[in-house]
Formats: sequence, C-alpha cells, structure tokens
Amino acid sequence: MGLFLQVLTVLVITVSLQGWLPRGCLEEERIALLHLKDSLNYPNGTSLPSWRIAHANCCDWERIRCNSSTGRVTLLDLGGTRNEELGDWYLNASLFLPFQQLNRLILWNNRIAGWVEKKGGYELQKLSNLEILDLEYNSFNNSILSFVERLPSLKSLYLDYNRLEGLIDLKG
Ligand SMILES: *[C@@H]1O[C@H](CO)[C@@H](O)[C@H](O)[C@H]1NC(C)=O
Ligand SMILES: *[C@@H]1O[C@H](CO)[C@@H](O)[C@H](O)[C@H]1NC(C)=O
Ligand SMILES: *[C@@H]1O[C@H](CO)[C@@H](O)[C@H](O)[C@H]1NC(C)=O
Ligand SMILES: *[C@@H]1O[C@H](CO)[C@@H](O)[C@H](O)[C@H]1NC(C)=O
Repeated sequence: MGLFLQVLTVLVITVSLQGWLPRGCLEEERIALLHLKDSLNYPNGTSLPSWRIAHANCCDWERIRCNSSTGRVTLLDLGGTRNEELGDWYLNASLFLPFQQLNRLILWNNRIAGWVEKKGGYELQKLSNLEILDLEYNSFNNSILSFVERLPSLKSLYLDYNRLEGLIDLKG
C-alpha cells in the first residue's frame, strides 16, 4: 500500500508538472528544423551550429521562439544566416509546413532566388498563423507574389531589395 501510494504520488506530480512546465519543442518540428538547416547549408555551409539533434529542446536553439504552452515554433528568424558563397538558394516551401503556429518568418539576406516550384507552394495556406514575412535583400522576382497571395493571415510583407518589376498589386 505504501509503495502504491508513493508511485501514485510520483505519477500525480509528474502529470501535473507536465501541465505546468513550459513545453519543449515537438519532435516533428525539431526534425523539420534540421531539414531546414540542411537546406540552408547545402552543400557545405556552417550556419546554425546550435541546431543539433543531440540538443533536443529546439525551443532553446538560436533564432527560434516557441509558444510556451504548445511548444510549437512561433518565430523563425533566419535573417542573414546563410553563407553567401553558397550561391543562390531555391527554397522548398514544404519545409515550413510543419510549423503550424508559425507567426513570424524572417528570411532577409539569404540569397534566395525563388521557391522550388512543387506542390508545397500550393499548400502554403496551411501556414494559417503566419502574419509577418520578411524577404528583403534576396533575389526574388515577381513570381514570389503568387506564392505570398496564398498565405491566409499575412499582415506584413517585406520585399525591398529584390528583383521585382513593375507595379505591384497585392490583394488585401
Ligand atoms: C565550400 O566549398 C567551396 C568549394 O570547395 C569553398 O570555396 C567554400 O569556402 C566552402 N564553404 C564553406 C563555408 O566551407
Ligand atoms: C500559445 O498557444 C495557445 C494555444 O494555441 C494560444 O491560445 C496562445 O495565445 C498562444 N500564446 C502566445 C503568446 O502566442
Ligand atoms: C521539399 O521538402 C519536402 C519535405 O521535406 C520533401 O518531401 C520534398 O522531397 C522536397 N522537394 C524537393 C523538390 O526538394
Ligand atoms: C523568376 O524566378 C523563377 C524562379 O523562382 C524563374 O523560374 C523565372 O524564370 C523567373 N522569372 C523571370 C521573369 O525572371
């Protein structure tokens, strides 16, 4: 009986602590971040050294903020992160889809030339919490506009210092 009570107490404490403590990151988001790091560093970049599988709580990694109750990534600040000598970067939009609570995505100055034109681009509406998107100082042309138009909650879009031409007419 004594042992049973002790086990029960430990269980109750564990369960209640899990409800209280800030949650670490979710495994699916940690894996997605590592894929993003690989893409950003391809083929031989050295950025984001603190993003390591051995360091499991991705909410503590540099350039990331999480929501403390859900443990989901809300901010990804990758401004000026990529080694310039790696040349142009074609972003795979699918890499961002696991971040369902992502609110701010900062990607300025990373030599991004466009998206990998695959079905991922058409799923961008899944990023239903993304409100701020900073793409300044990259190499986007006007084809970026058809991508960002699919983001349902976008409030602020920064596109200065890219290769856009002509009069830009964005809905909303
Ligand atoms: C990547 O490799 C290229 C060619 O070998 C080299 O010039 C460049 O400095 C390397 N970059 C890094 C960040 O190691
Ligand atoms: C964290 O996520 C919860 C559940 O989605 C939400 O209600 C809350 O507003 C979020 N907190 C912040 C600071 O965004
Ligand atoms: C884009 O990323 C997704 C998810 O990681 C992957 O399944 C897909 O193969 C990638 N597409 C390209 C063209 O690299
Ligand atoms: C715009 O960039 C895309 C790559 O994202 C490329 O396929 C396309 O040819 C470019 N369009 C113009 C007008 O340069």
